[in-house]
Amino acid sequence: MDPLSTTTPAPAPSLAVSRLAYAYPDGHQALFGVDLTVGRGERVALLGPNGAGKTTLVLHLNGILTAGAGTVAVAGLPVAKEHLAEIRRRVGIVFQDPDDQLFMPTVREDVAFGPAAAGLRGAELDARVTEALTRVGMADFADRPPHHLSFGQRRRVAVATVLAMRPEILVLDEPSSNLDPASRRELADILRSLDVTVLMVTHDLPYALELCPRSVVLSGGVIVADGTTQELLCDEELMRTHRLELPFGFDPRSVDVPL
Ligand SMILES: Nc1ncnc2c1ncn2[C@@H]1O[C@H](COP(=O)(O)OP(=O)(O)OP(=O)(O)O)[C@@H](O)[C@H]1O
Ligand SMILES: [Mg+2]
Repeated sequence: MDPLSTTTPAPAPSLAVSRLAYAYPDGHQALFGVDLTVGRGERVALLGPNGAGKTTLVLHLNGILTAGAGTVAVAGLPVAKEHLAEIRRRVGIVFQDPDDQLFMPTVREDVAFGPAAAGLRGAELDARVTEALTRVGMADFADRPPHHLSFGQRRRVAVATVLAMRPEILVLDEPSSNLDPASRRELADILRSLDVTVLMVTHDLPYALELCPRSVVLSGGVIVADGTTQELLCDEELMRTHRLELPFGFDPRSVDVPL
């Protein structure tokens, strides 16, 4: 008998994307067979030039778009119509524009929206909201209208709306864009402090290096590289071919990278 068969099976990866292809209704094909597996607790950066298909891929992770071909599974559960409610609880997407996800009269109501829809009530719901807002340093803003907050504050609230669902995987589309340097660093601290799987789309390569031990490069609708972030950023040929550019003077070798 195989001695391994008596051990507990490894948990399903947080994300398993297999042979995913997708064409938009106008016929434009954006994904050409994407394979990507992200293990529990990993933080992975999704890099790639404009138009590579990053957002298209993200929209498949909670069933906003439906695979033309191939499969997506979250912690073993296939992304399919019959599981959509559970998938949306498991996959927390923070969109690039926080205004796409904040629509209630107060911050508190926005953060409570998802958990309330999932059935939480009363003290349990209040505790969940407070916990999520505290995580992002926005507890004092609970009674403010989101549209009175600054962009960086709204981004944090958007992160809180997703954290309140206690997702299996947190997916962020360009989380550092439009943040001032202090807010950018504070968001990095928040993300590092979370015990959750993270997939982060970003053009901010130093941010990827700082936060994500592993990166994948999506280009022309396929994954063209998958490795440690440092290794990828040091590969000049890869970087040039896929229009990835480091900021002037930035040396990826000089950074202490997370393990
Ligand atoms: N609604 C749509 N209809 C048709 N084509 C689309 C649609 N949305 C995106 N595309 C096309 O699909 C391709 C992938 O777009 P996508 O938005 O996924 O790129 P991206 O990698 O997120 O780029 P960026 O870095 O600019 O955000 C692009 O060629 C784009 O023009
Ligand atoms: Mg995009």
